[in-house]
Amino acid sequence: MEISGSIKDTREMVKAWKAKGLKVALVPTMGYLHEGHKSLIDRARTENDKVVVSIFVNPMQFGPGEDLDSYPRDLDRDAAICEKGGVDLIFHPEVEEMYGPDFCAYVDMHTLPEKLCGASRPVHFRGVQTVVSKLFHIIPADRAYFGQKDAQQLAIIRRMVIDLDFDIEIIGCPIIREEDGLAKSSRNTYLSGEERKQAVILNQSLEEAMKAIDAGETDAGKVKDIITKTIESCPLAKIDYVEVVSFDTIQPVEKVEGPVLIAIAVYIGTTRLIDNRILNA
Ligand code: PAJ
Repeated sequence: MEISGSIKDTREMVKAWKAKGLKVALVPTMGYLHEGHKSLIDRARTENDKVVVSIFVNPMQFGPGEDLDSYPRDLDRDAAICEKGGVDLIFHPEVEEMYGPDFCAYVDMHTLPEKLCGASRPVHFRGVQTVVSKLFHIIPADRAYFGQKDAQQLAIIRRMVIDLDFDIEIIGCPIIREEDGLAKSSRNTYLSGEERKQAVILNQSLEEAMKAIDAGETDAGKVKDIITKTIESCPLAKIDYVEVVSFDTIQPVEKVEGPVLIAIAVYIGTTRLIDNRILNA
């Protein structure tokens, strides 16, 4: 396995593979890899000849006062996980390699980034789209793998690839969870013992919603009420948002029908966690 911090070397390596007709996969990450990331790597490994994992804590997608400085980092541990997972190349650039001193170009989008996480993190998705566009240019892969854990991110990347004609297939992969149902996240490391226990409320509230939907509930407002009440029963939880939206447009819907995303963001203490269910997609 190679580890490269150079855009030029990385692009040359990937182009050489492509010239031999090999299928190349990209798994973009910010590192501190866990089983969620590992599931994307495993799927990429089975479906392609070469697997590239990018590890870059992208400053552009963090707003002022967010956790850029404290975001967990451990390249040695990540490299060991990648090596074991059969990864061929880690792209791990310095910030200066990605963003030169006069950097001023962005990739942005109307509508899809405005609701959900975009409402409380106004610059976040512009940063994600810009860095993912750069990664797609640096690593001309056939397929890129994203988790449904970040469902709005997945919807935005899919839209971006269609609208801007990127020649890459986007593969969405299911959410990997802890035994008690909490979605795996690098940010779970911020939780204290008691917070960690109470964090299961995110998944539990979505389970309650799914029970109602399975029993025939289609009113999005009622589904939101069920989730809100469940979360409010938890003393350390504070809701950022509970939304039922179209998975294609990320605009609110009144009925649970067609491709629907039920998405929540909840503060457990000071840590903001997200979770969701995607239906009929
Ligand atoms: P990061 O949070 O490191 O996540 C990298 C990928 O892993 C994303 O596609 C995310 O959805 C997926 N992932 C995280 N937790 C998961 C889980 N529990 N189950 C399944 N997949 C999971 O998302 C980012 O980084 C960045 O925004 C990035 C796309 C790399 C751009 O900087």
